[in-house]
Amino acid sequence: MTTDTVTLTGLRAVYGTPSRPVTALDGVTTSFASGTFTAVMGPSGSGKSTLLHCAAGLDSPTEGIVTIDGTRLNDLGEDELTRLRRDRIGFVFQAFNLVSTLTAAQNVELPLRLAGRRPPARDVAAALDAVGLADRAGHRPSELSGGEQQRVAVARALITRPVVLFADEPTGALDSAASRQVLQLLRALVDDHGQTVVMVTHDPSAAAYADRVLLLADGRVVDELTGGITAAAVAARIAEREADPVGASRHAAETAGELSC
Ligand SMILES: Nc1ncnc2c1ncn2[C@@H]1O[C@H](COP(=O)(O)OP(=O)(O)O)[C@@H](O)[C@H]1O
Ligand SMILES: [Mg+2]
Repeated sequence: MTTDTVTLTGLRAVYGTPSRPVTALDGVTTSFASGTFTAVMGPSGSGKSTLLHCAAGLDSPTEGIVTIDGTRLNDLGEDELTRLRRDRIGFVFQAFNLVSTLTAAQNVELPLRLAGRRPPARDVAAALDAVGLADRAGHRPSELSGGEQQRVAVARALITRPVVLFADEPTGALDSAASRQVLQLLRALVDDHGQTVVMVTHDPSAAAYADRVLLLADGRVVDELTGGITAAAVAARIAEREADPVGASRHAAETAGELSC
């Protein structure tokens, strides 16, 4: 039986001022099943990062409910939220965000050290080994390629054994060979370790690694692909939507059996 690791219910996120509100999320309800890989796509400004930040407790929605592994984020105080983020959620950013003065191994153990724990050296070595960088433990970020830095960031995100790993355009700054390594790594985490992964990307060939693709537009989920996800299928669906947003929505609803006309 699959369970939902993350559920989002009626999420709205409004920024700006009362006279000039910017609605980043406009009623998003969806969930991410345990042990699945979801890609979140959509035009720039469609709310992808806001969705990820709200789901990860990095940002609070204006309205709606976020549940991670059965815990409602809305019910948590600031300290509890910080602990939940630190212990149960992994996050990978486009810009890697490694500490430049620390080695790969020190970067990986940082979340545990910040939590006041002393990570066993073999756990750090195992984390680096899992991302294919066992021989780079003593290297600083400047001595690593972009793809290697991002894999260190993935190891760092996984050292606390989070229930879900969020990644916001993790391959956005990488060339295609390095992107492929990071995507294969994310795919293997799901297939071999049952990790739940939610990744924002604008690249159809990156989305093709996922089990499911959510398409956002104007802060709403407007389409969803599951099964037979290829880069061509994803690109075709996006092109269809850009050419005829209204017709594409109707097509999506019909496919989902929600409209009979
Ligand atoms: N902290 C913020 N303050 C004001 N506006 C924001 C903030 N974060 C996001 N927005 C706005 O919300 C919308 C969605 O942004 P974002 O989630 O970053 O989109 P995406 O990641 O899809 O490009 C955009 O119009 C953006 O300008
Ligand atoms: Mg973004």
